[in-house]
Amino acid sequence: MKRILIFAVTALVLALGCKPEKETKPVDPVNPTDSSNRLTPYTLVAPAFFPPIVVPEDNKPYVERVQLGRRLYYDSVLSNDGRSCSQCHIQSRGFLSDHIAADGLTVMPHVNLAWNKNWLWNGGEYGPMETVMLFETHTFFETDLRKLNADTTYRRLFKQAYGVDQISFGEVTKALSQFIRTLISQNSRYYQRLTGKIQFTADEMAGEAIFFNEKGDCMHCHNTPLLTDNDFHNTGLDSDFSNPTNRGRFNVTGNPADMGRFRTANLYNVALRKHFMHDGRFKTLEEVVDFYNNPPKQSATLDPIMVKNNKPTKGLGLSPVEKYQLIQFLKTFTDTTFINNPAFAKP
Ligand code: HEC
Ligand code: HEC
Repeated sequence: MKRILIFAVTALVLALGCKPEKETKPVDPVNPTDSSNRLTPYTLVAPAFFPPIVVPEDNKPYVERVQLGRRLYYDSVLSNDGRSCSQCHIQSRGFLSDHIAADGLTVMPHVNLAWNKNWLWNGGEYGPMETVMLFETHTFFETDLRKLNADTTYRRLFKQAYGVDQISFGEVTKALSQFIRTLISQNSRYYQRLTGKIQFTADEMAGEAIFFNEKGDCMHCHNTPLLTDNDFHNTGLDSDFSNPTNRGRFNVTGNPADMGRFRTANLYNVALRKHFMHDGRFKTLEEVVDFYNNPPKQSATLDPIMVKNNKPTKGLGLSPVEKYQLIQFLKTFTDTTFINNPAFAKP
């Protein structure tokens, strides 16, 4: 009855052509409409060649939400020991650092994660980005929500962005995801070449051919344009899995078929790393390419792609010049616009 009355009044107001008072319109925290004029729409579009970006229905992008997430990312308020996300995920390094966690795992970069579903090196978290953000805040940082709720600025910003009076992990994880979804690299030499803006040098071109043809066969796992298939593989780094750090996905599923399988690394800005692979065992791209060029270590779960074309006995058989060319191509994944973008920096 009441609803019908409201409807009738609204219809009358609209019919008379005057807008209802902005202040009297409550913001729908799930999906504030543009007509509420409270939030500024944020255009989150996939660059050419990338798959469309799917965002959760209850966390549509808005400028105020992205900015709130950015503020949180750089703020030690989320932790209890002075750490912020940005301390290990450093923009100038492609949002990673040389930190090695207590479990022996290296930091993963925050770049082009808007398409991701499997999270962490071993896929310990799965689903929309909000899922892994709950792990990062609630479990890893043990974020104390009382600190956020005691802060009048944050209360105002969360009220504005999500319409809530009490800040919960739901809104914290949503806001962080909003910011990290905007961290898209679309100006590396690799991407400029993909979109026909530049030509590669002769060495880069030769390296690109090795990466994409049967000789290097890298693209089976690091495929265009995300440079990862978002799946798990045992690339033959180990044959002995007594060290838990090297067990990968097995640590999550307990399934022997997952022993030594890790998520394919996304290679954007990979040249900015100082140590490579889940445990940082290689210190240079030369060492990485040597690893791929040598026969893989045998084990029951070794990926079939790693044993194609006599690889188990001969390796890839790249000459020193070809190895150099492959590295020149890997360096085209570096995006200096991305690592210097003021929109991603500390607010
Ligand atoms: C002390 C260093 C450190 C800090 C601080 C830190 N991280 Fe990380 N981060 C890591 C490491 C190490 C990994 C890889 C861990 C793994 O795979 O188990 C990681 C992985 C991630 C991933 C997974 C990325 C992917 O591709 O799957 C996300 C997302 C992430 N961190 C977000 C955050 C957020 C948000 C914060 C702040 C709340 C944060 N991190 C703070 C070290 C850190
Ligand atoms: C069978 C799938 C597969 C193939 C083929 C493959 N990779 Fe990988 N790559 C992975 C996985 C999985 C990881 C992460 C492994 C780990 O850390 O244990 C990785 C990691 C890397 C890294 C380190 C990234 C980082 O962030 O530390 C580089 C560089 C790399 N691969 C380059 C290449 C090149 C070059 C080729 C071709 C010669 C290649 N890959 C072929 C699956 C593959």
